[in-house]
Amino acid sequence: MRKYLYRKDFDEKDADPSNAPRRTIFFHPHKSSLGESSVQQQKDDIGKKSNSISIDDLNNETQKNSKINDVITKKLFQDSFSAIEAFNDRKMELIYKQLEDEKKLSEELNEKLHENLSKIAKAESELVKKKNNLELELKEKTKKLVESERLSAIGELSSRVSHDLKNPLTVIKGTVGILKLRKGMPIDDFVMKRLELMEASIFRMTHQIDGVLDYVQHTPLDKKDESLKQIIENSLQLQKIPENIRVILPKKDSIYNCDRVKMEVVMGNLLLNSIQAIGLEKGQILIEIVETPIAITITIQDSGSGVPNEHLQKIFDPLFTTKQEGTGLGLSSVQSIIDQHGGIIDLKNNPTTVTITLPKRSS
Ligand SMILES: Nc1ncnc2c1ncn2[C@@H]1O[C@H](COP(=O)(O)OP(=O)(O)OP(=O)(O)O)[C@@H](O)[C@H]1O
Ligand SMILES: [Mg+2]
Repeated sequence: MRKYLYRKDFDEKDADPSNAPRRTIFFHPHKSSLGESSVQQQKDDIGKKSNSISIDDLNNETQKNSKINDVITKKLFQDSFSAIEAFNDRKMELIYKQLEDEKKLSEELNEKLHENLSKIAKAESELVKKKNNLELELKEKTKKLVESERLSAIGELSSRVSHDLKNPLTVIKGTVGILKLRKGMPIDDFVMKRLELMEASIFRMTHQIDGVLDYVQHTPLDKKDESLKQIIENSLQLQKIPENIRVILPKKDSIYNCDRVKMEVVMGNLLLNSIQAIGLEKGQILIEIVETPIAITITIQDSGSGVPNEHLQKIFDPLFTTKQEGTGLGLSSVQSIIDQHGGIIDLKNNPTTVTITLPKRSS
């Protein structure tokens, strides 16, 4: 029967626990560590001496041997136990050291992580600052560019207007001269024709001057709640609508907070463009108002010739015109007024449709 457990050739420095069990042997209390053969030897010796030694002596000798065995066993057990203890202590020491190292490493990593995170945050805020500065710079430069474009357009415009005004003025001057010669004569068809010529020249000059003023004057908006349908009707009354053109007004109306006079300039210019595009053909101009919770859309659709594709990008540029008597300021002024109201305008072909989108404000 197994009674005691001890480890033979135990190496205290070897912390690998997997080596320890392999060194375990089992000890039987009645077997000497000297081995089976030496006990047998003793018994044989006793047997040989049995003729001269008494039974008591034999018993005494056996008891003595047994005591020696007990002492040896006890000693081996104690050695083995302290070796296991030492092994466990060493193992725990190594585990603690490993844990300590790992803790230190994780603290270092944490510190580095914090350092990197604050570096990233700093870099991010610098980027945001740079982006804001760039945006501001871009805004200022765009403003300056627009202003310088406007100034150079005004310069070009002045020379063009001076030139354009000369033609109708010449017509007026000549007609006045002819009419003077007819002093005392009745106002017949001949005179009426000359008067109409003068009227057309005056209209042309007024249009030129109005166009320049609309473009040059950058007055602040005078906004009130206005009926958009009313604005459209007012603009129509200021235009001469030829007989060949039918104008279809919007069925629905919308009230919008805007500058009435400026919005009438917008509608007047767009109507005139449509009338000019239709020309002498039979045609129509369809005007609609659509209101959504966030915006109001006004569309002006005409059955005219449309804009050639190569011109589509230029029609809102100041001074761009394809007309003999145009200033090329109409759409440019319209865009600037819509812009002032926070809206957008665009023109598409087939059929030619100008769309104005005006935002609704919560206020
Ligand atoms: N409804 C339209 N149909 C076809 N072309 C158009 C229309 N509206 C504008 N355009 C084109 O865009 C150009 C620029 O228009 P804009 O109103 O700015 O100037 P204009 O009409 O030429 O001159 P002004 O407005 O002084 O009479 C026009 O010359 C024309 O070629
Ligand atoms: Mg025009």
